[in-house]
Amino acid sequence: MSFNVAGRGALITGAASGIGLAASRSMLGKGLQSLVAYDLNPSLPDVAEELRKEFPGTEIITHVADVTDPTSLQAAFATPLDGGRPLTIVSNNAGIGGADWEKTLAVDLSAVIMGTSMGLARFKKEAAGGVIVNVASMAGLAPMSFDPVYTAAKHGVVGYSRCFQHLIKKGIRVNCLCPAFTDTPLVQGLVDDPKFGPAGKMAIESLGGLIPMENVVSAFMGLVENEDNNGAVMTVTNAHGIMPMKFPLDP
Ligand code: NAI
Repeated sequence: MSFNVAGRGALITGAASGIGLAASRSMLGKGLQSLVAYDLNPSLPDVAEELRKEFPGTEIITHVADVTDPTSLQAAFATPLDGGRPLTIVSNNAGIGGADWEKTLAVDLSAVIMGTSMGLARFKKEAAGGVIVNVASMAGLAPMSFDPVYTAAKHGVVGYSRCFQHLIKKGIRVNCLCPAFTDTPLVQGLVDDPKFGPAGKMAIESLGGLIPMENVVSAFMGLVENEDNNGAVMTVTNAHGIMPMKFPLDP
């Protein structure tokens, strides 16, 4: 069954750049009507203006704030949408690499937990169902030895996101996206960071190079649109394409 994005309302964190921006653009292209875009990058309003020009008639609301600030994040999740449209798509996507351990856990794990609980609370209040896509990483499934804290945070996101399959009774799904290295500013930043070193570059090469953004967006859209995906953890690699992760004890 298909969960069409046309006419719906969505909230995406980390929407100013990379995967968040590409996923926003893809949903707007499919007729998404309202987008709440959240990012600490001050360029977000300019990005939103571009999107409004590209997709005339859509409602795009920006929140320039840090996902680790619960008050700002809660305000974004409380945003009323045009005509009382319910919020039915959420992506906790904002993430960082290469930061100190406390900041990494705060952005890459704690904020995803906050965003998921705020999203679920809104879905339950509006009783229109919904889907959450939490953006983890292949580092949520395998060790990325040059950044153990990022690895820990992303493993946390995978485990956490798999805990809500029972909510399907209320028409709510929580899924998780696990791309390998994708061609985005985050990765460019890492590649240029001397701490990343040869191990990081080798890891990229061993996985067949940087993944084209369209493959990651296609996996994202599958997690939103395909209602069979409930508690799914979707991997994206150049070697194997888009593939759901099988876990021990999976039925
Ligand atoms: P990006 O750097 O292009 O975009 C991330 C966005 O999040 C930026 O616009 C940034 O300003 C925003 N952001 C960062 N910290 C924030 C905070 N504290 N509060 C609000 N906004 C914040 O990076 P990319 O690659 O698009 O990353 C998106 C997600 O995908 C992240 O969770 C990342 O860990 C994950 N990911 C990325 C991969 C890659 O190779 N690019 C691979 C696997 C996962």
